[in-house]
Amino acid sequence: MKILLTGGAGFIGSHTCVELCEAGHEPVIVDNYINSCEEAVRRVEQIVGHPVPHYEADVRDAEAMHRIFSENEFDCVVHFAGLKAVGESVAQPLRYYRNNLDSTLTLCEVMQAHGVKRIVFSSSATVYGNQPVVPYREDMPSIGCTNPYGWTKFMIEKILEGQCNADPEWSVVLLRYFNPIGAHSSGLIGEDPAGIPNNLMPYIAKVAVGELEKLSVFGNDYPTPDGTGVRDYIHVTDLARGHVKACDFASGRTGCEIINLGTGHGYSVLDLVNTFQAVNGVKIPYVITSRRPGDIAENYADPSKAKELLGWTAEKTLEDMCRDTYRFQRQNPKGYHGA
Ligand code: NAD
Ligand code: UFG
Repeated sequence: MKILLTGGAGFIGSHTCVELCEAGHEPVIVDNYINSCEEAVRRVEQIVGHPVPHYEADVRDAEAMHRIFSENEFDCVVHFAGLKAVGESVAQPLRYYRNNLDSTLTLCEVMQAHGVKRIVFSSSATVYGNQPVVPYREDMPSIGCTNPYGWTKFMIEKILEGQCNADPEWSVVLLRYFNPIGAHSSGLIGEDPAGIPNNLMPYIAKVAVGELEKLSVFGNDYPTPDGTGVRDYIHVTDLARGHVKACDFASGRTGCEIINLGTGHGYSVLDLVNTFQAVNGVKIPYVITSRRPGDIAENYADPSKAKELLGWTAEKTLEDMCRDTYRFQRQNPKGYHGA
C-alpha cells in the first residue's frame, strides 16, 4: 500500500516508516520539521536501504496537501502530525488547538476531495482521563482530559468518528498509545526532544550520558508497590508494528475502531531506573521530589482488543527498551543535531 505519514519524521513516525518499508509498503512522509528534522528521514533511508519520498510542508497548508495527494495515489494515511508537550499545551493552548485541530481538518478535507478514506490516528491514553481503575479498556467512558493537549486528542477522535458516521465508506482506526520509549535497534533513529526532556525515559537517557546531572523522581508516596508512578511503557518498534497491522486492518473494512497500544504491564519510575542501570551498566543518580501536578498513580492498558482485531501484541521487554534507548543516546549524544 502507498501510505502517507503526516509527521513521519518524528519519533513514532520514523520508526513506523521503517516497519512499513520492511513489510513491503510504500510510505511517503509529509512533515514541517517543527519538532524533527530531515536527518531523521535520511537515517530511515539508511536503515531500509532505499530512498523514502518526503515533502516539507505544513499539514494545515491545503494547497500543499492537495499537490501531495495529486502526485500520489494513497491507499491510507497515518496521522502523526501534532504538537505533543503537555506542559507547553497548558501555557500555549491556542497554538495547540490551532495546530492539532486545523491539521486534522485540512487533512480530512483533502482526503475526502481525493477519495482517500482510510486513516489511522495517533491518539493517546490521555483521553481516558484519570480513571480510578486499571487496566484502561477502550469501552471505558472518558472522564475528561486534564490539559489542552489531551483535549485536542479527544476532539480529533470525535472529528474522525463524525466523519465515519457521515460517510460510511470511511475507515478510521484511533490508536491510543500508552508510553512509547526505546529506539530502533540500529541506534540510528530514536527520540530527540528539544531542550530539557519532560518525559521520564528521555530524561534518564540524558542523565546516563552526563548531559543532565540527576533525575527528579516525582513522588514516592503513591499507592503503588514502591510508591512511584506506574505506567505502561511500550517499545517504539512494537508500537510501529502496531501501525502496520492497523493499516492492514483499516483497508479491509469501514467504520471507526478505538484500539489501545500498550503492553498491559505497569512499571514504576524506580523499575525503569533500576533496569536502565542494570542492563547498561551506568549509574542514574536521582532524588525524590514532590509529585508533579496532574500526575496519577498508575495506568496501564488492557491490550486484548489489539490482539483480537489486529493480531498484535507487544514483544519487547523493559530491558530491550532501556538498552535501545541508551544505544541511540550514546551514538547521538546531541541527538540528530550533532550529525
Ligand atoms: P514527534 O513530535 O516526534 O512527531 C510529530 C511530528 O509531527 C514531528 O515530526 C513534527 O515536526 C510534525 N508536525 C507537527 N505539526 C505539524 C504540522 N502542522 N504539519 C506537519 N508536520 C507537523 O512526536 P511523536 O512522539 O512521534 O508523536 C507522534 C504522534 O503521536 C503525535 O500526534 C503525538 O501527540 C502522539 N502521541 C505521542 C505519545 C508519546 O509519548 N510520544 C503518546 C501518545 C500519543
Ligand atoms: N517522572 C519522573 N521524573 C521525570 C519525568 C517523569 O518521576 O523527570 C515520572 C512521572 O511522574 C510519571 C512517570 O515518570 O510517574 C512517567 O512520566 P512521563 O512524563 O514520561 O509520562 P506520562 O505518563 O506523564 O505522560 C505520557 C505522555 C503524554 C500523555 C500521557 C497520558 O508523555 O503525552 O502519557 O497518556 F498525555
